[in-house]
Amino acid sequence: MMKLKATSVAVALVVAGSAWAAVAVRDEPIKPIEPAKVENAAKVELGKKLWFEPRLSMSGIISCNTCHNLSMGGTDNLKTSIGHGWKAGPVNSPTVYNSSLAIAQFWDGRAADLKEQAGGPIQAGVEMNMPHTLAVGILQSIPGYVEEFESVYGKNKIDIDMITDSIAEFEKTLVTPDSRFDKWLRGDDKALSEKELAGYTLFKESGCVACHNGPAAGGTSFQRMGVVEPYKSSSPAEGRSAVTGADADRFNFKVPTLRNVALTYPYFHDGEAATLEQAVDTMGRLQLGRTYSKDEIGQIVAFLKTLTGELPQIAMPVLPPSSNATPRPDPFK
Ligand code: HEC
Ligand code: HEC
Repeated sequence: MMKLKATSVAVALVVAGSAWAAVAVRDEPIKPIEPAKVENAAKVELGKKLWFEPRLSMSGIISCNTCHNLSMGGTDNLKTSIGHGWKAGPVNSPTVYNSSLAIAQFWDGRAADLKEQAGGPIQAGVEMNMPHTLAVGILQSIPGYVEEFESVYGKNKIDIDMITDSIAEFEKTLVTPDSRFDKWLRGDDKALSEKELAGYTLFKESGCVACHNGPAAGGTSFQRMGVVEPYKSSSPAEGRSAVTGADADRFNFKVPTLRNVALTYPYFHDGEAATLEQAVDTMGRLQLGRTYSKDEIGQIVAFLKTLTGELPQIAMPVLPPSSNATPRPDPFK
């Protein structure tokens, strides 16, 4: 039953992929998002369960989906995330949609890829607060999981590597092709209104694409926040220098994707820009030394809204029940 469902998802994705393959793409600094290619549907299905699995948190109520709500653009729409014990994290939760397309994970790029990233939030005190050994122990005590890990990895002993590997495999399916902008990129002139196209032209000609480029319209480099004018923030986050130790990397952040940016408010690593208008105004002044008129901001915002793609259809997974031996959650620890 479960396997049948996973297979039909894979088939649907393959069909969508081949329908696009023959169409020529405009030569623009932003490229269309390609549909996900699912190689191992059973692994994706397991990763999806773990994505929605609150028993990976000490409290028993926090899952990856709590802060990267797939129904809300893959974010929590909060300034900065709230995790275990109502503790506020230092930074805004980035979207997980299309995050597989980025050069590295986190605002400062401290994880090389999705698999390396996935281990972080489980044990982070301000996120799920769950030591990896305990997370593994909990899953190992649930017969439904032991069986499913065995059928995916061929071993009856679960380890953290399998957990992060399958979550990453699920995350790779979280791409959002087929936005109106992508339809335009693939040659459909009617996909954008005049105002939206004017916004894209302004975005391109004023230099936003120097940083926001590639299929994700971001995620291809680390750049300073505040190139022309310094950015004032009360957030302790220092950006890339936390990873490289180099002073020159202070306040360099991974350029965020602008895909689905209409859904991922509030903006910037500290979540201080409440609206797209505010974010565009700040970017114009701080990154390019350019003050846009209200009309120009309206045009760019109209363009940015065309980057909302087709979000994958995700059926809520049924999670296998705990056994008598499963350690119980401790919400107030
Ligand atoms: C308490 C809220 C919270 C929970 C729970 C949480 N995350 Fe996150 N996630 C964040 C925040 C905040 C960041 C940004 C942290 C940073 O850059 O320093 C982040 C970053 C990420 C990124 C990097 C995205 C990018 O563009 O750089 C990925 C991928 C991710 N999380 C996946 C997960 C997975 C998988 C889980 C579950 C195992 C999870 N998250 C659980 C809040 C959370
Ligand atoms: C020099 C590189 C650079 C240029 C040029 C640039 N950006 Fe950015 N952009 C960034 C970086 C870095 C961030 C993240 C900054 C932070 O969070 O502190 C960002 C963030 C954003 C965000 C917020 C996204 C989010 O999810 O938080 C928007 C919207 C945005 N840029 C739009 C634009 C627009 C529109 C332009 C042109 C007017 C532009 N950017 C020019 C590097 C750049």
